[in-house]
Amino acid sequence: MKKKSLLLLSCFAILATSGWAQPPSQPAQPLPAPAPLIQNALAREGVSLNGDWHFFTDPYDDGGRRRYFLNQSPAATPGVIEYDFVNSATLHVPGDWNTQRPELLLYEGTVWYEKTFDYHPRAGHRAFLYVGAANYRAQLWINGKPLCEHFGGFFPFNCDATSLLKDGANFVVAAVNDTRRAEYIPTLGYDWYTYGGITRDVRIVEVPETYIEDYGLTLQRGAGNRITGWVRLAANASGQVAVDIPELHVHREAAASGGKATFEFDAAGLQRWSPESPKLYDVTLSLGDDRVTDQIGFRTIEVRGTEILLNGKSIWLRGVNMHDEAPVRNGRAHGPDDARTTLGWAKELGCNFVRMAHYPHDEYAVRMADKLGLLQWSEIPLWQRIAFETPGVLDTAKRELNEMIARDHNRAAVIFWSISNETPKTPERNAFLHELATAARALDGSRLITSATNQATRSGTTMAIDDPLGADLDVIGLNEYVGWYVGAPADIDTITITNPFNKPVIVSEFGGDAKQGLHGDASKRWTEEYQESIYQHSLPAFRKTPFIRGISPWILKDFRSPTRHLAGIQDGFNRKGLVSNTGEKKKSWFVMQKFYAEMAREAGK
Ligand code: GCU
Repeated sequence: MKKKSLLLLSCFAILATSGWAQPPSQPAQPLPAPAPLIQNALAREGVSLNGDWHFFTDPYDDGGRRRYFLNQSPAATPGVIEYDFVNSATLHVPGDWNTQRPELLLYEGTVWYEKTFDYHPRAGHRAFLYVGAANYRAQLWINGKPLCEHFGGFFPFNCDATSLLKDGANFVVAAVNDTRRAEYIPTLGYDWYTYGGITRDVRIVEVPETYIEDYGLTLQRGAGNRITGWVRLAANASGQVAVDIPELHVHREAAASGGKATFEFDAAGLQRWSPESPKLYDVTLSLGDDRVTDQIGFRTIEVRGTEILLNGKSIWLRGVNMHDEAPVRNGRAHGPDDARTTLGWAKELGCNFVRMAHYPHDEYAVRMADKLGLLQWSEIPLWQRIAFETPGVLDTAKRELNEMIARDHNRAAVIFWSISNETPKTPERNAFLHELATAARALDGSRLITSATNQATRSGTTMAIDDPLGADLDVIGLNEYVGWYVGAPADIDTITITNPFNKPVIVSEFGGDAKQGLHGDASKRWTEEYQESIYQHSLPAFRKTPFIRGISPWILKDFRSPTRHLAGIQDGFNRKGLVSNTGEKKKSWFVMQKFYAEMAREAGK
């Protein structure tokens, strides 16, 4: 009898670890939500976890039930273990998985990542696991214990790992799933590549037990140098906060109560930030032994009628659209080198403005634009056919808006928060975006709220902007494609654009496709000459329209898109770039560059 029961017991033990006799899989408990974002996390003390992570795919998204997060070793665990991180292949983090391995180019699903690392906890400090972005759902465990989960592919988040980290060897496991879903933002379909994975920096961020969670400094509108500021302490802590701007001989102190301290001062001798003079100051915030230094520019942005005023002066935006896609490598961009190349192209084109379409770009790019003097349009990926009527989608939109503003609200170059791109003007969408615009203003009253609409009604030679959303915006973005999706390039010569709102308009998209190196008559679609003719006809039309206060051609560089299949021409790329996906300039580039040089001369820049 004894032998038999022993045999039965050991069989069950083997089955139990194999996943076969696993206890019925409990409904997956959601992991905890991240902690409030730590401002300027990349500049805080800590340990980088960038580098090679082991990985394997999980197309059936079944790894939670199989508990891959335990990181068990087949050699050291009795029974059947059917995964083995330490002997699995690796992916580089940060980086999308699609362009790292040919077999992953079209992969959509879950990838399990694992990294073993040494760590030595700092006495009196908390340790947060910070992720710059992971597309789309990210679930994280440390040493086999649940840490947190985050939804949204373009936003940083951090989770308190203090109680899970050990002194010595630790491991982190991440499950990242990039499957598109109707209720997500962006939703099921869009015109860019779904680059999945941990696409931006990962690090352990260390802060004292009582620490500065967020801060903001804003130059007040008007002629003076009045700066107001605030500091928020984590967990509503109290304490004496200081702000220092050595170059301006500013030192102010304020007592934080209920977690918040405010201050205001006149910054004598302040040099305002502008594209021509992108002055950034070292600003240090301190609380006890917590100190964080940021590089912050000070400027004002506002509208007056149909004009946009930067530092009280009317400005005309010489822009270009960009996706967050690396030049030449054509994967998700990350790090200062990618940013320096693509933003360097924008400067070479003669731009003072970039539309960071259609989602928050890599933080290195946003900070590089601050340095280079490129004003920015920042946008949440609320693109076209969003499920406006599905419960929870408005909360998702508000969360993404909050996370976009939380990361970049100290970047002088960012002047626009955009709440959507090309959405249909249904009553549900109008109400949804009205709420979102209201939320954006409540989060940040110092910037302008905008959106790109394609709702314009053509009748005869009139193109009338026709979108009730305009009432909720400070600046209206108009996407128009006369000469590509509508009519011939010369049609725009006789078109009058009308604007029912006494507000500035930016032509936020225009242009057409051209295969770089394909030449022919200007009437032949897909040639560089055809694209060039769209620009040659469009630019004078925009220039003669007084309420148009800026333009942004679609797009700087050809980019990967799963909807562009024209063999020999598109081959999986949207070809509206002024530059090809291998970095070659097209004829339209030179039309734009000449036009922007003229505009800059006229503006005395
Ligand atoms: C739209 C959209 C872009 C898209 C472009 C195109 O306006 O906003 O995301 O890539 O048109 O069709 O090329």
